[in-house]
Amino acid sequence: MSYLEGDLKKIYNVIRRKNTNEKENIRKKRILSGITPSGDGNLHIGNYLGAVRQFIEFAKSYDCFLMVADLHALTTVQDKATLQKNTENLILNELALLGDLHNITFFRQSDVVMHAELTWILNNVTPLGLLKRAHAYKDKLQNDVMEEEINLGLFNYPILMASDILLYKPDFVPVGRDQKQHVEICRDIGGRFNKTYKLKIFPLPEPHIPEEVAVIMGTDGKRKMSKSLGNIIGIFEDEAVIKKQVMSTYTDPTRIHADDPGHIEGNMVFAYLDFFGDPTSPRLRGASNLNRLKEDYKAGRVGDVEVKNYLYESLLKYFAPARERYAELKGNPVKVKKILQDGAARAREVAGATMSEVRESIGLTNSYSFFEY
Ligand code: ADP
Ligand code: TRP
Repeated sequence: MSYLEGDLKKIYNVIRRKNTNEKENIRKKRILSGITPSGDGNLHIGNYLGAVRQFIEFAKSYDCFLMVADLHALTTVQDKATLQKNTENLILNELALLGDLHNITFFRQSDVVMHAELTWILNNVTPLGLLKRAHAYKDKLQNDVMEEEINLGLFNYPILMASDILLYKPDFVPVGRDQKQHVEICRDIGGRFNKTYKLKIFPLPEPHIPEEVAVIMGTDGKRKMSKSLGNIIGIFEDEAVIKKQVMSTYTDPTRIHADDPGHIEGNMVFAYLDFFGDPTSPRLRGASNLNRLKEDYKAGRVGDVEVKNYLYESLLKYFAPARERYAELKGNPVKVKKILQDGAARAREVAGATMSEVRESIGLTNSYSFFEY
């Protein structure tokens, strides 16, 4: 190589490094999350506060990926019609809540085959012990299910979730507290892959769990709000259903008469009002803000039924735009399909680029390769 060629090469390398750095610098921070359609697909206010709302906040400035994790649902839902219905319903729920999809790539996990492919590859850098420590698996065992009976999909669940995350190289993964361990396992698996192949293919993402919404308690005031516990307040149910859920919400058991002094602490109506209370409501003797209403409640000047009605009205007002979008999307399947197609196309682009790097770095490419994403 002549001096000139050598110098040109150096200059070229400097330019290339600079371009790569610039690309990295201008790459918007990225977040990724998913929801599994294991239940009927109807989201409740706990899901909204713990998962969807943060996502909407992030989408204001981050590049966001959100998936409906239907492959994960296969671990427990093994009936075709049920899975289809749950998934379709969850898609409508999420799209209605998200509204504007600016900065959001919304897709169905099974539309992007790379998730399953990377899972197989990551199986091989994941020690059994790591998965045996996973809460979901340990809980199953504690519920008297024989180890031999647990399907491997459930056991492997954290590896599929690691693939979901690592494929998109996100900076943060916003989840509820119950998913924190899965993100930690993902970091562990990503780190092991990098170490095994002596390459930094996978940046290790952080879970993002804002404390105030890490666990939203249910209407029973005792346990986390959860579909399976029947202690939820829905978002898209009929008004009569939501009213019933609100009216059965735990308040203050020490209060017998409406004019007894009431307690705010542990009172779920006020816990929810902190998030959804509409300060402009003309209701309740001119109580124009939540603090005044709390004072009135403590002094026995306002009854349980009144505050519950206030919560009911506030919820309907808060979710009115989403409820409208839900009805609109439900009547327009072509629009929903197009959103999913566009989302899958963008997701495949990103996931495909990562898989090309992975295939290259582990030896799945060779002189005879013809595979291309
Ligand atoms: P459920 O327990 O009702 O079946 P999922 O397990 O499907 O809900 O959770 C979907 C998403 O909502 C997850 O990100 C989860 O962390 C979040 N989430 C669920 N319940 C709550 C809750 N009570 N408080 C905060 N976040 C929650
Ligand atoms: N396992 C998560 C749940 O049940 C859903 C999920 C699947 C997910 N893949 C993900 C969450 C990737 C965050 C990132 O809630």
